[in-house]
Amino acid sequence: MLKVLNVVGARPNFMKIAPISHAMLRRGRGEFTPMLVHTGQHYDPRMSDAFFHDLGLPEPDVHLGIGSGTHAAQTAAVMQLFEPVVIAERPDWVVVVGDVNSTLACALVCAKLGVRVAHVEAGLRSRDRTMPEEINRLLTDQIADLLLTPSTDADANLRAENISAERIRFVGNVMIDSLYAQLPRAQDSQVREQLSVHEKEYAVVTLHRPSNVDDRESLSRILRALKLIGERLPVIFPVHPRTRRNLAEFGLMNSGEDQEVIRLIEPLGYHDFLRLYSGARLVLTDSGGLQEETTALGIPCLTLRENTERPITVELGTNQLVGTNTERITSAAFAALDANHAHQEKRIPPLWDGRAADRILDALLEFAPVAT
Ligand code: UD1
Repeated sequence: MLKVLNVVGARPNFMKIAPISHAMLRRGRGEFTPMLVHTGQHYDPRMSDAFFHDLGLPEPDVHLGIGSGTHAAQTAAVMQLFEPVVIAERPDWVVVVGDVNSTLACALVCAKLGVRVAHVEAGLRSRDRTMPEEINRLLTDQIADLLLTPSTDADANLRAENISAERIRFVGNVMIDSLYAQLPRAQDSQVREQLSVHEKEYAVVTLHRPSNVDDRESLSRILRALKLIGERLPVIFPVHPRTRRNLAEFGLMNSGEDQEVIRLIEPLGYHDFLRLYSGARLVLTDSGGLQEETTALGIPCLTLRENTERPITVELGTNQLVGTNTERITSAAFAALDANHAHQEKRIPPLWDGRAADRILDALLEFAPVAT
């Protein structure tokens, strides 16, 4: 029986831990005793509770309640509060996912205490060290004991950093487990009806990267493109709290006319958002997860960044990198709207098959510490 602490912190963690937590409870053959730890990095009901509800996650066993702060303050707060939990619980494994500050902070605590840590979604690299997530990925992968990768490019990245092949296991994309499991339930969402939009007749936008939304110029360039796109079809934009704060601070999107063309709405829960983007004609985003989800569903996606840590979504999937130049975004969007997607072949990357969580559990058993 392995005691495992599954860690979540921020919104993109919940859909990665849910299938792992469910699989551990389901196996029920005395293999795993899972505990759920929420660092509290994301705390707004719409950024956290809504996902626990939609994904059927149990209440966290431990909630650290750390909230927002500078990178150093947030990372340090997670470390300080997570360390006594690990000391008290002495787990066989700690599972961290993704690339947020909570991921690195918890991995670092475990490395110092000599507790085994597994990193799910290991090995992704944008090669852009100005992104906080890239620093979190690089450092977490150096100190984690087991590196569970979503695609084979990630294995190659890790090998190029001299990480031993014995620590790496290609398990596929666990976020796609959640996507396939929840797709039927998402059909009950009334979000399209509430917004009065019809399938394949609207675009969906998400933006939250600091490089896009913390800089007035860059945010304005993107909004200019969205307004031009909004003249062709409704543009629905669920706004992340960071972006909401900056729109207000920069005095952007104040006019009623702007808000008619770009429809700003509150962040959506997992089911509502899944129903919304799965019916979109086009998605424009700077999110990592959404690049993968649109690839899995064959929805055209324009990524408003110059690089991606998920190149497989460009090579095999529906993703295109278009940066943040107004002209480039609009011309790529118009080309995508004019294309006939019905004839496009949908290619799903290997092991994005809805069964990654079971492979993760098998790897945890195989690499488990030997009882002394
Ligand atoms: C974090 C992750 C990012 C991930 C994103 C998904 C890091 C470095 N970044 O970015 O990788 O893609 O989550 O959303 O870990 N805020 C709220 N309520 C909340 C959470 C945040 O209002 O529940 C506001 C606060 O003003 C906060 C700001 O958003 O200061 C940024 O939150 P933070 O957790 O620091 O980073 P994100 O931008 O959300």
